[in-house]
Amino acid sequence: MHDIIKKLEQELHAALQQATSSDALEAVRIAFLGRNGHIAKLMQQLKELSLEDKRTVGPEINRLKQEAETGCLQKSEELTHANIRAEQEKQRFFDVTASVRKELTGSLHIYTRTIEDLENIFISMGYDVVEGPEIETDFYNFEALNIPADHPAREEHDTFWISDGRLLRTHTSPVQIRALTQRGTPLAIFAPGRTFRHEATDASHDFMFMQGELLYVDKQVSISNLLATAQTFLKAFFQTDHLNVRARPGYFPFVEPGIEIDASCPFCTGGCSICKRTGWIELLGSGLVHPHVLRSCGIDPEIYSGFALGFGIERLAMVKYGINDIRLFHGNNIEFLEQF
Ligand code: PHE
Repeated sequence: MHDIIKKLEQELHAALQQATSSDALEAVRIAFLGRNGHIAKLMQQLKELSLEDKRTVGPEINRLKQEAETGCLQKSEELTHANIRAEQEKQRFFDVTASVRKELTGSLHIYTRTIEDLENIFISMGYDVVEGPEIETDFYNFEALNIPADHPAREEHDTFWISDGRLLRTHTSPVQIRALTQRGTPLAIFAPGRTFRHEATDASHDFMFMQGELLYVDKQVSISNLLATAQTFLKAFFQTDHLNVRARPGYFPFVEPGIEIDASCPFCTGGCSICKRTGWIELLGSGLVHPHVLRSCGIDPEIYSGFALGFGIERLAMVKYGINDIRLFHGNNIEFLEQF
């Protein structure tokens, strides 16, 4: 027994020396002082000894136990101190007076961000996002939209003509025709994209801008559906529960009736500079798809009806973020872009 205890004592010292983490130290503690540890086993063996042997071996075991207990305690304190010192050492190299390097972080362009917001809203409402070409034919941009060659509405669309007779689309409505003829009914699409008008620029007009077009064609689509959709979408876009819409008659050749939709100002209750103290903001052009348009896409207007809704994407973003000049959108002014 004496030898065994001696050997364990040596083992204890070696193990304590080698323990450099609190996990390792805990393992040593369990090995010696645990319920099935060396000391517990020695105690078991002690019971078998003669009275005389017990007298000499007992105290030895006790000494070993005490050595193990104080050794573990000391080591644990040492480890804690070592940890603290290491932390302090690290902080010695952390110069709180050093100047900060400016991190250049990119952000989404206001266009990308607004279009993504709109896409998320319309996708959640069951619409597919579709695109159409920016170079269009007269047929898709005008003819199929109930705007024949001599129609006065063409005057409104100052068109960039290309020498081969094609044109830069003046609105996103040609995507209605492409989607209706290709996909048929029922149809629910959102078509965002670039549009072009040959006109002088000012704070609210640009020769290139973005439109978004919504088209829903099915059986029994009504003006109620149109107004509810407009309200739901505008509430989501302006992130407010308090937004009403109102309808005014408007004229667009490809819808009948044509409806202009205003939103109650999302920023005030009594009138502010954004709504020019009227409480209302003009935002959307819309209407029920004209029977001529449905027919030109091979759809029977006796069975199907639908609504179309169009808007300027910059206009929506300008109202939402308080931007006062449409030309900022592709002016590439970094100070403007950094705000988004
Ligand atoms: N395309 C029309 C325009 O640019 C907007 C619009 C779209 C109006 C859909 C009604 C319905 O003026």
